[in-house]
Amino acid sequence: MRLLFKGGTVVTGKGPRRADILVEGEKILDVCRDIPAIGAQVVDVTGMLLFPGFIDAHTHFDLDVCNTTTADDFASGSRAALRGGTTTIIDFACPNKGETLHDGLRLWHKKADGKCACDYGFHMTIDDWNETIEREIDDMYAEGISSFKMYMTYPAMMIGDEAMYKALKKLKEKGGICGVHCENAGVIDALIAEKKVAGENGVHCHPETRPDIMEAEAVGRLLRIAEQVDVPVVIVHTTNIEALDEIANARWRGQKVFVETCPQYLVLDDSVYYNEDWLQAAKYVCSPPIRKPADREALWRAIRRGEVQTVSTDHCSFTTQQKLAGRDDFTAIPGGIPGVETRGELIYTFGVAKKKIGLGAMCRVLAENPAKLYGLFPRKGVLAPGSDADIVVYDPNADHVIRAEDMVGAADYNPYEGVVTKGSIRQVWLRGKPAVSSGKVLAGPDGKYLPRGKCQL
Ligand code: URP
Ligand code: ZN
Ligand code: ZN
Repeated sequence: MRLLFKGGTVVTGKGPRRADILVEGEKILDVCRDIPAIGAQVVDVTGMLLFPGFIDAHTHFDLDVCNTTTADDFASGSRAALRGGTTTIIDFACPNKGETLHDGLRLWHKKADGKCACDYGFHMTIDDWNETIEREIDDMYAEGISSFKMYMTYPAMMIGDEAMYKALKKLKEKGGICGVHCENAGVIDALIAEKKVAGENGVHCHPETRPDIMEAEAVGRLLRIAEQVDVPVVIVHTTNIEALDEIANARWRGQKVFVETCPQYLVLDDSVYYNEDWLQAAKYVCSPPIRKPADREALWRAIRRGEVQTVSTDHCSFTTQQKLAGRDDFTAIPGGIPGVETRGELIYTFGVAKKKIGLGAMCRVLAENPAKLYGLFPRKGVLAPGSDADIVVYDPNADHVIRAEDMVGAADYNPYEGVVTKGSIRQVWLRGKPAVSSGKVLAGPDGKYLPRGKCQL
């Protein structure tokens, strides 16, 4: 069956242009002006913006963390993703401590296969380094895992400088890419101990014990280790000016560095942690924490200049009940916030509509760059002949109010409650099939696992 998306404006990384899109089955056949409707069912998209299906390269679905499990599993999380225009997610597979990468991969397939409504892939977490893991890295490529993740904080997952150096050497040999969570674990521990001695336990202790400069220190250290190895790395969930300065310095030295940020760092600021209502403040606990308005502006500027390549969500959702686990100990508040359902509309509203970035940049950070960075391009990330027919139909005039009660994700709150969006997602198509229409998720658990190739950025 052929579908003709007629009358819309197609957005690519280069910007918008008037064009129709002809789809046959799961693939795009043609993208050009005035395609005749012969033998095709017409989808009238007059006045609409058509984006390639968004890719969220940073989700945590069905993750055991802080003695609990994230509210969203692959079923609810992927439905929420589709509703937010995301047709592909890349989640972080995470072996249990002491288990192999193969165990981790099997576990993640068990969590996702047959449940995920959007297409999906996995990054693999490296939380240790030994000969077995080194051998397994080769196997991961054969399984379509071409990207990895390391943590410089979190006792359960963190990896030291020596192991990080060795892992990066191996990834260089394979042409792989690694995302790294950069925060200085030792200083965070010391600052937490100081708060406890002082008898302080408010949610504000969370940002105060994870300062921007200690994120920047870890970014700088990672980048020096990457320089020693001579390998590109991805700085995930970058939040602040000091960290951006470290990245600029490394680039000035000639290093290739990829940078991700997230909507919470572009839209919110750290005043959320100073709400007198404990639960309201706890809802925003995530690591690294949300920073100052000046950091937010620096991140937008960096997107505009092409210094930030991707905006992912770090979707790691908990209910308010789960957040309450940290009522008597701020370090026990499960870290992470929902985001997968609102990313596209927030970037349009706070970025494009406020003229901080153009449509081309929006397309690059939400679709084209993650597809290239994580080896999915041109199957994903672009509306072009031969690509999957993953299409987001965005109505720039249909503003709406973000409300938790309207969300399909499993968290019972939304960090952006009450925000009036500029425009909204009217339809989402996944491989030529309607996946979302006027806010209703139509897709079943038919997402495909996507084996991925090498970085193309
Ligand atoms: O607080 C957060 N961001 N939780 C998710 C895990 C991570 O650090 O990416
Ligand atoms: Zn992280
Ligand atoms: Zn994360």
